[in-house]
Order: sequence, then structure tokens, then C-alpha cells
Amino acid sequence: MRILAIESSCDETAAAVVENGRKALSNVIASQVEEHKIYGGVVPEIASRRHAEAVSAVVRQALTDAGVTLKEIDAVAVTYAPGLIGALLVGVNYAKSLAYAANKPLVPVHHLRSHIAANYLCHPELEPPFLCLVVSGGHTHLVDVQDYTTFHVLGKTRDDAAGEALDKAARAMGLPYPGGLNLDRVCKNGDPTAFRFPKPRVDGAPLDFSFSGLKTAVLNLLHNAAQKGQTLPVEDLGASFQSAVVSLLCEHTLAAAKETNRKTIVLAGGVSANSVLRREMAKMCKEHRLRLFVPELPLCGDNATMVGAQGYYEFLAGTRADLTLNAYATRTIE
Ligand code: KG4
Ligand code: ZN
Repeated sequence: MRILAIESSCDETAAAVVENGRKALSNVIASQVEEHKIYGGVVPEIASRRHAEAVSAVVRQALTDAGVTLKEIDAVAVTYAPGLIGALLVGVNYAKSLAYAANKPLVPVHHLRSHIAANYLCHPELEPPFLCLVVSGGHTHLVDVQDYTTFHVLGKTRDDAAGEALDKAARAMGLPYPGGLNLDRVCKNGDPTAFRFPKPRVDGAPLDFSFSGLKTAVLNLLHNAAQKGQTLPVEDLGASFQSAVVSLLCEHTLAAAKETNRKTIVLAGGVSANSVLRREMAKMCKEHRLRLFVPELPLCGDNATMVGAQGYYEFLAGTRADLTLNAYATRTIE
């Protein structure tokens, strides 16, 4: 079964053709990163406009690269939530028109579910159940993936997402957008023990996260130093901050594995590209005899192959949308 998938939840216009949820036949991404860079973050209205301009060509290219015509597609899958509302609406409306014109079933896909499904494309042996740490720019979730379409949230952030905290800290340190990625690059040789950060806990919810205190601690360090006319070593500060974020992510993941007795851990989302997170999670999993799956680097960030992968399992589970499908800025993964 071949699914044509469309993703436009943030600043990438993407389309792909995916076979049986596991094999990408094409993967086209038009990135807007360069345009948003000058503003230090994604400007929602610009993102929507660029999606509107790019989506037709991106979809056409995905079909061409896969060597298939629209007739040879079995269903259209699209990200409908969560994300930037104007951005999502472009993909949703395009997918609706296409599904209607070509008389194909339309499958709505949750963005975080698709991030998890990115792993199915590079790990043929991976099947639920497993425990997944979903870490993206907007979300930090510990999810018990019970089967391909049954998800139970064990813990999530009460304030900033991990990616958001990394992005904001990086920006305060003077690093360009996308902050998380540049922080990872710049701090490779920094000393992660140079600065100490608090370990925020959420009372009564040990698997929930809170990153805003960590972010504020970095901002305070930078402001205090600036007031004294000093500059802080960005490499060491960034390495220490990343280490603080990563150790929280690892500790909570281990606690969730113990609680659920899951032996397979999966990472998903843009921040799963982080080299420190990948290294420390591998260390922890080895020590505790847990199996770890991480997405290949190009599959960590937003793309449409992951939408096609999850779309396949949603299709099998009977998920369909009609032409009244809407987009939602927030919606639970459950
Ligand atoms: O999943 P994603 O592409 O978009 C959302 O759904 O939000 O995640 C984007 C996030 C951004 O916060 C970006 O800074 C972060 O992923 N990111 C990284 C790295 N690459 C991307 N964070 C840390 N280290 C990286 N190497
Ligand atoms: Zn994403």
C-alpha cells in the first residue's frame, strides 16, 4: 500500500510517498530555516505563506521521485495537529482537495505520533509496545506506545519543551536559529561540569518535566555576567546546560521504564538528534539492559516520510477524515 503524505506543521513543507508504513519511496522537504533565521525563530505568518507557495511543487516532486502517479497512490495522509495553526491549515486543505479530486481516502495524522513512527522507517524490527521519549521544539512527552495507534502519556513538560529551552538558552548565548542544533555543534568540546544547574522536579508527578527554571538560570547567569562587564565561556555554559537537560530526560525515562516494566526505549522528535542525548541515553540503556532505538539523523526533524509511516498504521486501524477535517494547534497524542 502506498501513501502520499504531507507535513506542514512548522517551518518545513514536506511530502513523501511511503510503502506499507516502512519504506520511503521519496522524501521532499522545502525548508524555510534561512528565512526565519533573521528573526531568531519561526514567524508563523511567514511560515503559512511559504507553505502555500511551496506545497504544490513539493507534492509533485514527491510523486515524481517515487516514480508513481496519483492514480497509483492508495491514500493521502496529512498532519492535522498539533502545530502552528496557519501552517497546518495549508497542508490540511491541500490534502483534502487532493484526496477529493483523486477520490482517495484521507488519513489525519497526529504530529507526535508521526515523530515516533519515524523509527519504523529505519528499524524494521521495531514494533510496539515500547516506551518513547518524544522531544521536539514544542513537546516533551514520555509515552507508553501500547500498539501502533494506542498511546498513553506517562509524563510531560509543565512549561517549556526541552527543544524550546535549548533554543532559548542558545539564543541568549548569541547562537543563531535553530538554537538547539547550533548549541550541540558549538559545545562539543565544552566542559559539562563548569556550571551547576538545579534539577527541577514536579511535586507529586515524578515523570513530568519542568525546564523553565533551567532556562531562567542560564539567563540569570548571562545577565549577571553582562552587568559586571564579563562574558561567559559559551562552550562550557552550553555544555553544562545541555548536560542538565539531558540528565533530566534520561532519569525520567529510566523511571518510566521501571514503572511500566518496558525493556525497549525509543527516542523521537527534533531534539533526538542531539549528540549528548543520544550518547547518554545509549550509556544508560546499556547499563540497565534496555534496548534503545533512535531515528537516523535525517528522520529526527520534521519530514513527511514519518507521516506516511504513521498514516499507514492509522489507515489499518480505520482512521479516516472527510472533507470537514480541520487543523488544531493543540491536541493530545492519546
Ligand atoms: O521535531 P522538530 O523538528 O519540530 C517540532 O515538532 O517542534 O524539533 C525542532 C527542535 C528545535 O527546538 C531544534 O532546536 C531541536 O529540535 N534540535 C536540536 C538538534 N537538532 C534539532 N536540539 C538539540 N540538538 C540538536 N542536534
Ligand atoms: Zn516536529
